[in-house]
Amino acid sequence: MDTDNWSTAVSALRNAKHVVVFSGAGMSAESGIPTFRDADGFWQRFPPEEFATWSGLWKTALIDPHSVADFVLNVVDPIARAEANPGHRAVASLESRTKTTVVTQNVDGLHQTSGSTDVLEVHGSLLEVIDSLTAQVVRRIDRSQLAQIAEALRKYAGRQGSTDSLLAELGKYYPLDWLGRLRPNLVLFGDAMAEPAWTKACEVVDRCDLFISVGTSGEVYPAAMLPDQAAEAGATVITVDPQPSGDCPLPGKAGIVLPKLIHDAFAAVAD
Ligand code: OAD
Repeated sequence: MDTDNWSTAVSALRNAKHVVVFSGAGMSAESGIPTFRDADGFWQRFPPEEFATWSGLWKTALIDPHSVADFVLNVVDPIARAEANPGHRAVASLESRTKTTVVTQNVDGLHQTSGSTDVLEVHGSLLEVIDSLTAQVVRRIDRSQLAQIAEALRKYAGRQGSTDSLLAELGKYYPLDWLGRLRPNLVLFGDAMAEPAWTKACEVVDRCDLFISVGTSGEVYPAAMLPDQAAEAGATVITVDPQPSGDCPLPGKAGIVLPKLIHDAFAAVAD
């Protein structure tokens, strides 16, 4: 660890009036949820051309419904089982020190599970069902319900159940019609960002004085423009990632670096 960068980050956190934590898939990697672009990531196993858009998913489902069930199972199952990790808890603990807003690309709800109260989910949430015509969230589902969905998908992907029985099980949560009107509140490629989260995120990034990017490759826009936007607005930008980039990189896993950063920023004050 570069000691200059560490000192810069510690001092920026100690003096911050409003922190934005910007998280990506790496934030939840230590909770057992795979990232997208690492060696074992989703897009290595499931080509984005077939699985990363709603139209691609519908098309693939018509040709090979079991492969779509396998993909959805691989999304749903780890999130159904996941618990918050030390990185999430460190972020939540910041709220008792300074105003903190989490802007997350993750759809797993783990920031809220760990106690963060100001969370903007700019790519939506797997724990919400949305009416795609009105963009309204119509219901919430919990992790035990996600586990039931995963079980139905597992049977079907393993060729143990009929399409009708899978649709009946899914229909308890997402009553399906041919328009796919009620669906998980997920932003896929080519979709508009989740609102009002995205508009609020852009506003808050302009106002923060410290922007901590955690576990994101910065490859997906428009979310990936937020670090530059924060820097241009005058915030200190630090990056926590095993392969970090930017002006103040802190290499390492979120679950190790974030608790240590918070300890070093505030324990000295408490001593
Ligand atoms: P990526 O898979 O692109 O990047 C994950 C990042 O996490 C990489 O930079 C890893 O080095 C880092 N990482 C891995 N383990 C980590 C750990 N324990 N602690 C900290 N960092 C770790 O995931 P995202 O950047 O989140 O969007 O991907 C952005 C968007 O692409 C997703 O929201 C999703 C995806 O396609 C949509 O589907 C619209």
